[in-house]
Amino acid sequence: MTCAIDVNHVFFRYDEFRMEDITLQLHVGQQKALAGLNGSGKTTLFKLLLGLLEPESGEIFILDKKLTKDSLWEIRQDVGFLFQNPDDQLFAPTVWEDVAFGPRNLGLPKEDIEDRVEWALDRVGMSRFLNRPVNQLSHGEAKRVALAGIIAMRPSILILDEPFSGLDFKMVKKMISIFQKLRQEGASILFTTHNSFFIKNWSDSVAVIKEGRIVYDGPTTEAMRSRAVTENVGDWGQLQKEMLYSRRTLLE
Ligand SMILES: Nc1ncnc2c1ncn2[C@@H]1O[C@H](COP(=O)(O)OP(=O)(O)O)[C@@H](O)[C@H]1O
Ligand SMILES: [Mg+2]
Repeated sequence: MTCAIDVNHVFFRYDEFRMEDITLQLHVGQQKALAGLNGSGKTTLFKLLLGLLEPESGEIFILDKKLTKDSLWEIRQDVGFLFQNPDDQLFAPTVWEDVAFGPRNLGLPKEDIEDRVEWALDRVGMSRFLNRPVNQLSHGEAKRVALAGIIAMRPSILILDEPFSGLDFKMVKKMISIFQKLRQEGASILFTTHNSFFIKNWSDSVAVIKEGRIVYDGPTTEAMRSRAVTENVGDWGQLQKEMLYSRRTLLE
């Protein structure tokens, strides 16, 4: 099976934090959760996948291409990365400009850029907001605009850092349906969460990271029987209760 993402024995270190011997695969078409408590290394691993950080040793392949300084630009065309905080992602004056930034950078003709922006904003349900300054968006709106900016590039791999954090139940439901559609269209998805609801109901497989090491990697169906998983998935909180209550409607 082709790997969308293939991480081989990667080591990395900040001053006090070490990532040790990370090996992980996301197969094409798969939806995989990367779970772990706060500070376990999820975002750091994502930064390594995007070439924003460089491993001390080990190799990363994206769609069989080895991640290096030289291949980075090409590889980034295949990967859409949603930051945990949309404020880190949005910087153009208006929603339209922000979503157009990526396609424009690809050097596409004006009409294609317009088509892509229109399509992407429609897909995330933000078409009405195209002239809105990005600093006047709510958190949920900003997250959807950030996602529009990513999908306007038509990446085949989506890397989503805490895509549901800070969203209320209705917005979570909306985001799930957007991601479900992207997946039906062939996207491979790797997302972080510390909420077991999303692992159980929204992933084929799960890798669990604890203090910079992978302590579980396997199918979701077996994950919840593993203590390595349950001990490293955080408190469910009120959102969880609401979701369990509304589980049927959410997954319709
Ligand atoms: N730029 C940085 N410099 C030094 N340490 C960092 C930096 N960024 C993150 N860390 C540390 O690395 C560890 C993992 O952080 P992170 O990958 O953000 O965890 P998670 O996303 O799982 O919450 C934490 O201990 C954090 O304090
Ligand atoms: Mg994080």
